[in-house]
Amino acid sequence: MIKAIRGTRDLLPPDTDLWNRVEAKVRDVFARYNFHEIRTPVFEDTSLFSRSVGEDTDIVTKEMFTWDDKGRAASEKSQSLTLRPENTAGVVRAYIEHGLDKRGTLQKLYYIGPQFRRERPQKGRYRQFYQIGAEIIGPPSAGSESPARDAEVLEMLATLLDELGLRGWTLQLNSVGCAADRARYNQALRDALKPVVATMCADCQRRSETNPLRVLDCKVPEDQPIIEKLPRISQYLDEPCRENFAAVRAMLAAVGVPYTINERMVRGLDYYTRTTFEFTHGDLGAQSAVLGGGRYDGLSESLDGPKAPGIGFAIGEDRLILALQAEGVTADAPLDAYIAPLGAGMNSHALRLARELRRAGVRADLGDESFRLKKSFEAAEKADARYIVIVGENEVAGGQFSVKELATGKQEPIARESLAEYLRRSQ
Ligand code: HAM
Repeated sequence: MIKAIRGTRDLLPPDTDLWNRVEAKVRDVFARYNFHEIRTPVFEDTSLFSRSVGEDTDIVTKEMFTWDDKGRAASEKSQSLTLRPENTAGVVRAYIEHGLDKRGTLQKLYYIGPQFRRERPQKGRYRQFYQIGAEIIGPPSAGSESPARDAEVLEMLATLLDELGLRGWTLQLNSVGCAADRARYNQALRDALKPVVATMCADCQRRSETNPLRVLDCKVPEDQPIIEKLPRISQYLDEPCRENFAAVRAMLAAVGVPYTINERMVRGLDYYTRTTFEFTHGDLGAQSAVLGGGRYDGLSESLDGPKAPGIGFAIGEDRLILALQAEGVTADAPLDAYIAPLGAGMNSHALRLARELRRAGVRADLGDESFRLKKSFEAAEKADARYIVIVGENEVAGGQFSVKELATGKQEPIARESLAEYLRRSQ
């Protein structure tokens, strides 16, 4: 038997009802904050990711699905392609390629879609997973550098999670400063690591030379006591970055969004500057980050684009769903009515009634005239319908249907004209 590939999975009903509820809420909230959808390709030139996410990151060194795509015609060159491991790089590429900076305004863009990383699969970690992300990017003259954008994004996330009904989240906040701060911090890390790095894992040994900040990503338990004692990024922020971070925190306080500072959180991607953040959830175990994001003020220039500071985030939709389910949040997509034709020749009458009701906004499912009454009741219960409507010869002739509420057993005759309203009423 052919099975789904390791790290990929099928999403089935009723889980997909919750996925759809989440995505509908996301689109509703994003629209209220003036975000608009962007859809970028699922695969891109490999160098887009190595140049933005960073040569030394786990994503680029170990996790990308990359292949050599041979040209099909003499005019087509072969090229290295990669399934997108994240979507920020694609959005910034599209921003540059389509000259969105020329619009002169802030671009508030969002996306929902699959991403691919060859990680070791476990609960909450998949090789194909889904992100819901948003980016605010634009020329500095449009206000893209302002800490107000950071606060707006974080406040929107708090509102979104609240409206989804998720309770147990924590916002972890940090600032990784600007490029000059990080150069100083990297040097400090290099100096601090020099005497101890020989006892650390191979990744740390390499990164202590190439990109010491990435040592903070290390998950090897034996290395943790050393990492805990390393210098902290906050000591290396210059005055403007310090002020910027203070402004973000003050605005969060002003709107009442709670957060904790986590100085070890440098995020697993190289493009970040200044504000970085994650929202974690206690029920998720090892994969506790429901979402992550931050500012990326130099990213556009590093991809040969114009100056275009930006900030954004990506929610791991798989993890968000797990967290919601852990808190008992379900999709309420109840079926209003199960229409049960009773007796030979009643299928077309039932179909006509179902058509009227469905066109009037009732969620209705339809049985079959071959079912005995008992089987229709069983089917209605399995379908989780609120009511069952019996469509027999007498009912059709009299224009009045017997409607039974399954939970209570209460039964009433309802006139055809009032039926749609009756069935919809208790929604
Ligand atoms: P990231 O932290 O790499 O950031 O991913 C964001 C979220 O995607 C994570 O917090 C997690 O919930 C989810 N995620 C990542 N890998 C997996 C996986 N293998 N299985 C399931 N879920 C996963 C980014 O991707 C940035 N592009 C976010 C961003 C947007 N920063 C600025 N703008």
